[in-house]
Amino acid sequence: MSAPATDRPAKSPEEVRELYDEQAPRFERFGWIEERLVGRYRERLFSRARGRTLDVACGTGPNFPHFPEGVALTAVDLSEGMLAAAERRTAELGLDADLRVADAEDLPFEDDSFDTVASALSTCTFPDPVAVLREMDRVCAPDGEILLFEHGRSDVAAVARLQDWLAPRHFRRMACRWNQEPTDLVAEAGLSVERVRRNVLGIFTSMVVAPSGD
Ligand SMILES: C[S@@+](CC[C@H](N)C(=O)[O-])C[C@H]1O[C@@H](n2cnc3c(N)ncnc32)[C@H](O)[C@@H]1O
Repeated sequence: MSAPATDRPAKSPEEVRELYDEQAPRFERFGWIEERLVGRYRERLFSRARGRTLDVACGTGPNFPHFPEGVALTAVDLSEGMLAAAERRTAELGLDADLRVADAEDLPFEDDSFDTVASALSTCTFPDPVAVLREMDRVCAPDGEILLFEHGRSDVAAVARLQDWLAPRHFRRMACRWNQEPTDLVAEAGLSVERVRRNVLGIFTSMVVAPSGD
């Protein structure tokens, strides 16, 4: 069970932006290691994307190669450094994408603008993840899908205890709450998970979430 919202540690958007601007070269350089570990899970989930697709908190763009050809891709992130790396990735992949600096809590799009709203390894970092999930719901068309690939507290007790022990230090370094439970956040946002899959000792969770249609 995740900490209730009031106990959830959070850095301000400015602190998160600064931190990820600083970290961007490291993410760009060593992203291939993470792709080896979890690329297949990204592929399985994000190959479902269709039509107008929004990648929220896209980082350096590790989801981009996993979206099917022909989607109309828009991607946002708070960090200009991460987005600059994402732009280099779109060029390498020959993608025509609309990349914008934006706060996921206040997306610069009309209601129901996208058929697919995707996000990876991000709810752990958002200062208010529930507000962002509601914002994803707002911009997702009622017959669309919200696709989330997240990490959280392991299903294996010993690993979970180690994560709990290291969590404060990891949060200070990366603004990342790595022992929260992503399915709890989706429930807290009032959304329902249609499909869920756990991988790598239950640390990674892939979710297909139905928009509320409100
Ligand atoms: C751990 S990285 C994950 C990036 C990428 N989605 C991936 O799968 O590697 C978290 C990202 O969330 C972004 N981020 C954090 N808070 C944000 C917010 N409020 N709005 C937009 N992006 C945000 C950070 O700048 C960073 O790029």
